[in-house]
Amino acid sequence: LDNGLALTPPMGWLAWERFRCNVDCATDPYNCISESLFMTMGDLLVSQGYAALGYNIVSLDDCWLDDERDADGKLQPDAARFPSGLKGLADFLHAKGLKFGMYEDYGNYTCAGYPGILGYLEIDAQTFAEWGVDYVKLDGCYADPVDMDQGYPEFGQYLNATGRPMVYSCSWPDYQLVNGMTPDWDSIIRTCNLWRNFDDIQDSWESVSSIINYYGDNQDDIIPNAGPGHWNDPDMLIIGNFGLSYEQAKAQMALWAILAAPLLMSNDLRNMDPQYKEILQNEAIIAVDQDTLGLQGRRYSKEGNIDIWGRMINPTTDTEYSYAIAALNQNTDGTPRDVTIPLSLIGMTYSGGYTCTDLYTGVTLGNYAPDSNIEVRVNPTGVVILRCDINS
Ligand code: GLA
Ligand code: GLA
Repeated sequence: LDNGLALTPPMGWLAWERFRCNVDCATDPYNCISESLFMTMGDLLVSQGYAALGYNIVSLDDCWLDDERDADGKLQPDAARFPSGLKGLADFLHAKGLKFGMYEDYGNYTCAGYPGILGYLEIDAQTFAEWGVDYVKLDGCYADPVDMDQGYPEFGQYLNATGRPMVYSCSWPDYQLVNGMTPDWDSIIRTCNLWRNFDDIQDSWESVSSIINYYGDNQDDIIPNAGPGHWNDPDMLIIGNFGLSYEQAKAQMALWAILAAPLLMSNDLRNMDPQYKEILQNEAIIAVDQDTLGLQGRRYSKEGNIDIWGRMINPTTDTEYSYAIAALNQNTDGTPRDVTIPLSLIGMTYSGGYTCTDLYTGVTLGNYAPDSNIEVRVNPTGVVILRCDINS
């Protein structure tokens, strides 16, 4: 969507994967979906250094709404859980220099059964603008996927008509793909700043690897759609939760950067193991993700359970690119593997060669001629991610 927003993939924090639809503030006030949860995460994005690295969105997901619209037909948050109202929450986040993310659903209900926007598109877009929303995730439960080709653009026009810049995140193609439809990608690119293609992420390596494999297996259809202002969204970063080992967490971060993915953490910033925080705050990997060229990377080879992924970044001349390379070992047999990466595989042809650095260890591996190979050792369900810049 050419609205001047999301020129690099959005970054921030989103409630769903970690906090789900926990509305029980009476017995679980610390973890329920309430304004204090979002205010606390906003505070921590700033105080723990995430915001300075670009993680600046704090977004609602499902289960913030009251069961009913108000007497004027406007959406309203659950009053007990959001006593300041959403304008109040937005003001709080804006005062910290953060952006406020909204969740709604194109259909009759949200996925968890709260009021959807169908029948209220114009009034809801206006309400979001009044509240100070900066980012809208529009889900697609309780809707006919056939209607979405008309409905998502229509709502986008109402968002646009408010005059308030809002990033527009669409679940549209995901719902169409699961229903066997072929999405109208030209329209999706024109309408949305980002969109989901595949299943919801869960807190497991099985889920993360299934998403990586989906993106690799379908890359020729997926990659051409990505670019500044319009991104594929493989779903939230779950780093720092319960399901990923240290190696698996490093793998998710590295692959999301290769995929030019939005970096939307869904985790508990109050309880972050320093090792996981370090992964999320790896500036060199964030820089790969946020590369302004916006060229999504691809899987150059898959042999058995060893993948080699790469991404062109940051051209230093009209023709010579730097590259990010990720070697992923999906074997689960407990044994590190030696992986050979021919520069020619990635299309790295610069005659002067490249200097390659491991982005997790910071170690420079050396200089590589275009006809040479890089050798790395990759831990099981782990990754090595490199950045290779041309020798000048
Ligand atoms: C869908 C979405 C998820 C989340 C839930 C909320 O499953 O894909 O990301 O928003 O709905 O109910
Ligand atoms: C309800 C709405 C229809 C349609 C379907 C989709 O019946 O009234 O407009 O959106 O839901 O499930």
